[in-house]
Amino acid sequence: MQFPDYRPRRLRASTMFRRMIRETVLTPDDLILPLFVVGGKNVKNPIPSMPGHYRFSVDNVVSAAREARDLSIPAIMLFGVPEKKDPLGTQAYAKDGIVQKAVRSIKEKVDGIAVITDVCLCQYTDHGHCGIVDKGEIDNDASLDLLARTAVSHATAGADMVAPSDMMDGRIGIIRELLDEEGYARIPIMSYAAKYCSAYYGPFREAAQSAPQFGDRRTYQMDPGNAIEAIRETALDVEEGADIIMVKPALPYLDIVYRIREEFDLPVAAYNVSGEYAMVKAAEKMGWIDGEKVMMETLTSIKRAGADMILTYFAMDAAKGLRGKG
Ligand code: PBG
Ligand code: ZN
Repeated sequence: MQFPDYRPRRLRASTMFRRMIRETVLTPDDLILPLFVVGGKNVKNPIPSMPGHYRFSVDNVVSAAREARDLSIPAIMLFGVPEKKDPLGTQAYAKDGIVQKAVRSIKEKVDGIAVITDVCLCQYTDHGHCGIVDKGEIDNDASLDLLARTAVSHATAGADMVAPSDMMDGRIGIIRELLDEEGYARIPIMSYAAKYCSAYYGPFREAAQSAPQFGDRRTYQMDPGNAIEAIRETALDVEEGADIIMVKPALPYLDIVYRIREEFDLPVAAYNVSGEYAMVKAAEKMGWIDGEKVMMETLTSIKRAGADMILTYFAMDAAKGLRGKG
C-alpha cells in the first residue's frame, strides 16, 4: 500500500490509537535497581556524580529495598563497598562481608523482591582489579576460585541470583560447578557476558571506590570496536551455564543488545550504567533536556533493542513515573 491509500499518520492521531499500536511498553517488571552498601549504621552518603543515589548502610539498604518492592520493582542488584581492601579481596567472600550482611538482612526483613549480588573482586582488592594480580599481571585462573567462593558465600547468605562482572575466562563454569557442589543448584547466574571496557563506568568507580590503582581493564573487558566477539564471549557463558546474559553498557552498545537477542534464546539483560545516568542528570540540571522524558525514551530504546530486563539507576524514578499507567 502506498500513499495516498496508506497514511501512517492515521494511527498517530490520538492518544488512544497510539496506545493501541505501541509495540514496546515499559513496565516496572523490566527494571532492576542497583544499590551500594557500606559499613556503619544509619549511613546515607550521597554519590555526587549520581544524584539520587547513595551509599547505604545495611539498615538503610533494607529500607531502599522495601521502597523498590513497593514500587513493584522485581529485583535489586547489590554492590558492596568494604572497609578493608587487600591483595586477595578477602572481604568479597568473607562470611561477614558487607554484601553478605546486607543480603541476610534484606531477605529477613523484606518479602517480594529478589536480591541479586554482583560477584567481583575490584571493590575488595587494594589494587582495584577484578582478578588477582601476580607480578603486575591479572592471574585469570587463580582468580576463578575466589570468584566462585564469593558467589557461594552470597548464595549462603541468601542471595536469589548471582551476577559475575569480572570478565575472567571460564568463570561461569567454575561458579556453576561450585554452586551446584555446595547445594545451590537452584541459584541462577546472570552473566555480564558482553562487558565492554567503557569510560561510562566513571561515576560507579567513584561510588564503589573500585578504580584500578594501576593500568586499566583492557586486558579483560571487551574492546569497544568488537561486535562479533560479543557473540563468541556470550556463547562461552551460555555453554558454561549462564541463565541470563547481559550486555554492558547499554546505550552505546544497543547494536550488541539487538544481536545477542537475535542469536540466543536466553533472557537478555542490559546495564544502563552510571555514566549514562550521570549524563542525563547533568543535562537535566543544566536545563538542557527534559530529564523525565529522556529517561523514559532511553529505557524504552533499550527494551526495544531486545533487552528483557534493564539494570538502571533510573529504576525508582521510572517506576514512579509508570505508576498508574499500563
Ligand atoms: C566492576 C563493575 C563495574 C560496574 C559494575 N561492576 C565497572 C568497572 O568495570 O569498573 C559498572 C557499573 C556502572 O557503571 O554503573 N566489576
Ligand atoms: Zn570488577
